[in-house]
Amino acid sequence: MRVLGISGSPRRGQTTERLVQRVLGAIKGHETEFVSLAGLNIKPCGACLGCTGDNTCVLTDDMEALRPLLERADAYVIGAPNYFSMLNAQMHALMERWFQFRHRGGEAVRGKLGVAIGVGGSDPNAPAVNIETFFRYNGIECIGRVTAMGANPCYVCGHGITCRDGAVFARLAPGQTEITDEMVPDLSKQPEVIARALRIGQLLSQRLSGASPPAT
Ligand SMILES: Cc1cc2nc3c(=O)[nH]c(=O)nc-3n(C[C@H](O)[C@H](O)[C@H](O)COP(=O)(O)O)c2cc1C
Repeated sequence: MRVLGISGSPRRGQTTERLVQRVLGAIKGHETEFVSLAGLNIKPCGACLGCTGDNTCVLTDDMEALRPLLERADAYVIGAPNYFSMLNAQMHALMERWFQFRHRGGEAVRGKLGVAIGVGGSDPNAPAVNIETFFRYNGIECIGRVTAMGANPCYVCGHGITCRDGAVFARLAPGQTEITDEMVPDLSKQPEVIARALRIGQLLSQRLSGASPPAT
């Protein structure tokens, strides 16, 4: 069996990507692949209905190379950052393009397993909920959610201390004049999240090996 991990963050090596990789790293006995959407050109769905005849999108961009990976995967580990209380646009564009798989009994993604990963500067749950909804729409069974706090760009933009609109300002203690390392969220400071990623990866491995879903 094969697991495809996808990070929707435009930033390489940040929390979303690292958390997706943590789940993939816990997969045992199955193959894994990883794709970052950073730098990829994936257009949104144009609603042209060009895919309704043969379940193949007619747009030409990086989705063409991604399509076989999506088709051959048996499970998806999908992670996205929170941008304005929803998953970010790059991941949304990718999801819109799954419209091509769903016409007239299309079976390319239906019946597979999924893990939803959300990252946010203050609310990591919103994108995970979006991903779970997306899985449901596509007939993919979500076996678990992993969420982590990520570092808002305001920590490194250079104006974090003084910008009253930024994510840092509200968290400064009275009189604080610099951003300290302790303030900046990082996956290494969230051992409970890393442990959960490991557990979900192990659970996904077991499910792919034929284990029954846990009783609810
Ligand atoms: C355009 C933009 C909008 C954001 N909006 C939110 C938000 O509404 N809620 C939140 O919790 N974090 C928000 N963030 C913070 C990101 O979720 C945070 O930086 C996260 O770590 C990004 O994931 P990454 O580190 O994997 O790139 C926003 C960041 C950007 C760049």
